[in-house]
Amino acid sequence: MLPERIHTQRLILRPLDNSDADDVLEYQSHSEVTQFVPWRPRTNEEGKPAAIIRKTSTFERKGDALVVGWELQAESKVIGQNILTLTSADERTANIGWVTNPHYWRNGYAAEATGAVIEQAFRLADLNRIDAHIDQRNPNSAALARRLGMTLEGVFKGASFIKGDGGWCDMWLYSIFAPGEESVIGV
Ligand SMILES: CC(C)(COP(=O)(O)OP(=O)(O)OC[C@H]1O[C@@H](n2cnc3c(N)ncnc32)[C@H](O)[C@@H]1OP(=O)(O)O)[C@@H](O)C(=O)NCCC(=O)NCCS
Repeated sequence: MLPERIHTQRLILRPLDNSDADDVLEYQSHSEVTQFVPWRPRTNEEGKPAAIIRKTSTFERKGDALVVGWELQAESKVIGQNILTLTSADERTANIGWVTNPHYWRNGYAAEATGAVIEQAFRLADLNRIDAHIDQRNPNSAALARRLGMTLEGVFKGASFIKGDGGWCDMWLYSIFAPGEESVIGV
């Protein structure tokens, strides 16, 4: 597991709670964010905008997820989040996703937060490999993956359903390994 709070230069990385709902809704309902993530703009049962504050679970079985909010220290405001999902406990692999509130894009926040989460996950959660699946129409996200030191392994053809225009799209597969854990049999 990760520590309850991780301090970086400008951020506090921590679990989200209901008091963060307004901050979280700002990015969860923003069309520039939702176009490239699996979820639609967040709403409640009446269809009104409402944040979904997903709680961190244990990190032992496939599908367990750590949700890490990024609190900007200078504004005491949550401006983004990561979700680290365990994809295989036996193989010590996880998938990571990232979202920054568009008002704060291009300030290095996603790189600062995600870099720290990946570093701690390799060190403390004993992971071997972390990957990210990125819509090919989303070069900003691919640039972030490269900035984090992830490498492009390939493309999943037709792997994700495009919201809105109703079709299938291709996804880039990026990955990073724990120091010294790269695969021993290359191709
Ligand atoms: C992808 C995303 C998280 C990047 O967040 P961010 O906080 O702006 O990223 P950073 O400022 O940390 O930028 C990190 C790197 O990403 C690249 N990058 C980010 N935004 C970019 C843009 N608009 N154009 C070009 N490169 C960009 C840059 O290479 C940057 O590295 P640099 O500092 O060396 O220039 C943000 O654009 C976002 O939330 N997008 C919508 C949600 C989404 O697509 N999530 C990912 C689903 S796979």
